[in-house]
Amino acid sequence: PRIAVLYGGPSGEREVSLSSGQAVLQALQGLGLNAVGIDIRPAILQQQLADSQAGIVFNICHGAVGEDGLLQACLEMLNIPYTGSGVLASALAMDKWRCKQLWRAAGLPVTDGILLRRGENAPDIGARFGWPLYIKPNHGGSSLGVSKVSGPEELDAALQSAFAIADEVLCEGAVIGHEATVGILDDRALPPIVIETPRAFYDYTAKYLADDTRYLLPSGLGATLDQQLQAVALKAFAELGGRDWGRVDFMISAEGQAYLLEVNSVPGMTSHSLVPMAAKAISMDFPELCNAILRTAQR
Ligand code: DAL
Ligand code: MG
Repeated sequence: PRIAVLYGGPSGEREVSLSSGQAVLQALQGLGLNAVGIDIRPAILQQQLADSQAGIVFNICHGAVGEDGLLQACLEMLNIPYTGSGVLASALAMDKWRCKQLWRAAGLPVTDGILLRRGENAPDIGARFGWPLYIKPNHGGSSLGVSKVSGPEELDAALQSAFAIADEVLCEGAVIGHEATVGILDDRALPPIVIETPRAFYDYTAKYLADDTRYLLPSGLGATLDQQLQAVALKAFAELGGRDWGRVDFMISAEGQAYLLEVNSVPGMTSHSLVPMAAKAISMDFPELCNAILRTAQR
């Protein structure tokens, strides 16, 4: 069948998705597959899909609409098979606070946090979490609107940038240590990657623009912690009902305790991205990775 690679769309991560989408489209075409790219426009998506005459979708839209269950619901209704998680898992994965609740109930390691709603009086979060703490849009990606807040004088600006993106904002205590990530492909966990940046945290600049972000693979955490991360990643993904592929992000404290940050149900596939890096470590090149993801939609 013809493959529609869906990318772009209206989310704040549009630019990232355009990069991911171009890379995936080129790889699939390079494999000799009949693939076309579609920059999705929700209002005319059904027409775009009909015009493409595609029988299967490779979804590489990040963020709102493409990663949060809306697109998945549309494709379910149109009865078009697609890569990645279904409606509920996608919606949950895009909601950091509700993931935290589920994972805590399942005995998985999460940090303490609270949800702030627009217009509500903020509780004394400094007293509760200490400084630094993190302020994040509850629904978001690529660290857009996320701040590491070092003291009370920075709080208002942080809340403003988070509320500019979402109506719900998550406040979390900071784990001082390393950021790490585990890619998931077809129910298997890929080797963990540790990320080091000279910036305050792994923000949008460190993710896509800076050339001083360091990716450690092997992670340097040791076999025991690597395996533990992989096991927790698979459980956290399964707990949401995740399917096919994804990426689970962690913070690891200086004492070596891993805490779940979030699941990405449509992780980045740009030249800087982490899942392709992890796949390479198991000798799977980028086109092979794209093909493996595509095959999961054809089951
Ligand atoms: N949200 C970005 C695309 C990622 O997780 O890779
Ligand atoms: Mg994300």
